[in-house]
Amino acid sequence: MARLGLVEVGPGMGVVGVERRAERRRSEEALRRMNQTLEEETKRLAHEVHDEAGQLIATAQLALADVALEMPASSREGVAKVSRVLDEVADQLRRLAHELRPTVLDDLGLLSALEFLSQGVIKRTGLDVRVEGSTAGRLDPIIETTLYRVVQEAVLNVVKHARARSVIIRVEHGPTHIRCSIRDDGVGFDAGGQPKGPRGLGLLGIGHRVETLGGRLEIRTRPGQGTTLVVGIPVS
Ligand SMILES: Nc1ncnc2c1ncn2[C@@H]1O[C@H](COP(=O)(O)OP(=O)(O)OP(=O)(O)O)[C@@H](O)[C@H]1O
Ligand SMILES: [Mg+2]
Repeated sequence: MARLGLVEVGPGMGVVGVERRAERRRSEEALRRMNQTLEEETKRLAHEVHDEAGQLIATAQLALADVALEMPASSREGVAKVSRVLDEVADQLRRLAHELRPTVLDDLGLLSALEFLSQGVIKRTGLDVRVEGSTAGRLDPIIETTLYRVVQEAVLNVVKHARARSVIIRVEHGPTHIRCSIRDDGVGFDAGGQPKGPRGLGLLGIGHRVETLGGRLEIRTRPGQGTTLVVGIPVS
């Protein structure tokens, strides 16, 4: 009979299985805690970008207005142009800060937050993004946040890699699972193949995040056939 730490292991190896499960539970718990810390940090960053950057741009606008006062009227149009660009930068920063950690996710739930995210992507990229389905009410906040992060990464991937025209985000609440899919009509990729450049972390990261909740992430894609990400997370 072998000894594993203080635990005796018999021929059935049942104890090893129990130990592995316990170890897995411990590392999942650690990952969950790490994600929670990351979420807190993201919240803080979102507020900082929103408030601090907003203040700095407002200060720049005031300084520009002072400069404009000392200029001949014929040169003021140039300053006005810079001021309009600064307004646009302030709007975009505010919007990105909200998308980073939308308060609407806490206040109104997943679907509203996904709608908000899609509107921003439509405005910035011209992609046709649709949100469909329902969650049948509010979900556990950790599930809402995880699904928001999955969709955020999936949509970012579509923008970066897919050359797609449209994206459909679908949320369905089944008897045991909440299911979310993100489907694009872009170039697709060889999910089993070797990456050409350095390996990305996005899909890996959201996959691990989903696993800590006992869920699964599936990637359905082929070159030229678009990409669909499907996530299922158990709900009680
Ligand atoms: N919707 C998609 N359409 C086409 N290719 C995709 C799509 N999503 C992912 N890919 C491919 O899969 C690779 C891995 O994606 P992943 O999100 O893990 O990394 P990344 O986006 O390259 O980098 P990171 O997410 O770390 O910034 C991408 O580099 C891209 O080649
Ligand atoms: Mg990515």
